[in-house]
Amino acid sequence: MLKLGVNIDHVATLRQARYRSNTDPRRKVEPDPVEAALLCERAGCHGITAHLREDRRHIVDRDLLRLREAITTRLNFEMANSPEIIAIALGVRPDIVCVVPELREEVTTEGGLDVVGGEESLRLTRQRMNDAGIEVSLFVDPDQRQIEAAARVGAQFIELHTGRFADHFHLKRERNEELNRLVLAAKTAHEVGLQVNAGHGLTTENLPLIHVVPHLVELNIGHSIISRAVFIGLDRAIQEILGAMAGYPDAVALAS
Ligand code: PXP
Repeated sequence: MLKLGVNIDHVATLRQARYRSNTDPRRKVEPDPVEAALLCERAGCHGITAHLREDRRHIVDRDLLRLREAITTRLNFEMANSPEIIAIALGVRPDIVCVVPELREEVTTEGGLDVVGGEESLRLTRQRMNDAGIEVSLFVDPDQRQIEAAARVGAQFIELHTGRFADHFHLKRERNEELNRLVLAAKTAHEVGLQVNAGHGLTTENLPLIHVVPHLVELNIGHSIISRAVFIGLDRAIQEILGAMAGYPDAVALAS
């Protein structure tokens, strides 16, 4: 069954929009991403994803510690491959880390990781995480070279970047080209022994097309769920997205 990881960064973005400069821990600040994570779990998601960015623009260190304590599903920690953040991950011990590229000026993670260019350093990070019992995923564009490099690094998972597909959803030719790249990338990853997640820009509207991408284990979805929750609540927003994911062919069906 295709699993759903909910990215709760956007809840923290809303909090920081009002309370970024608050230094008094006694003051009530809202909305609380940990409370949101617990609601998502109750609504049926399979994991919680949070990205502690180097500039702490949304999730802050305390959120991560509280998430680790509070949630009962899997914690997926999105992180840059930087010494400070690696040390935090080793302290917090999420179930899995997803290594992403991080540029200060970007609004959200914009491109996939350059695994080919950073192979040595990523192999070291992967080893340190695995030694601590933490699985490793690498966020990559659907590019054969990057996927082969991810396998050489020894990662357990890749997360396929679906942002380009989502951005071109309204343009049939471009969207289908990108969908083909995602299909090929998932097949290559499976062949070289990587497990495959996917995420970025997925919505109830574009998600049904993702069903043609084989071997998917988990989708990580944030913005569309939190946006929808403003109008219908988190519980129903999760139900809607789980509804759009239902019917994804399972591994047995793919093999036959
Ligand atoms: N996966 C990764 C690696 C991401 O960086 C993000 C965005 O934070 C997501 C998934 C979720 O993307 P979205 O918020 O567009 O659903």
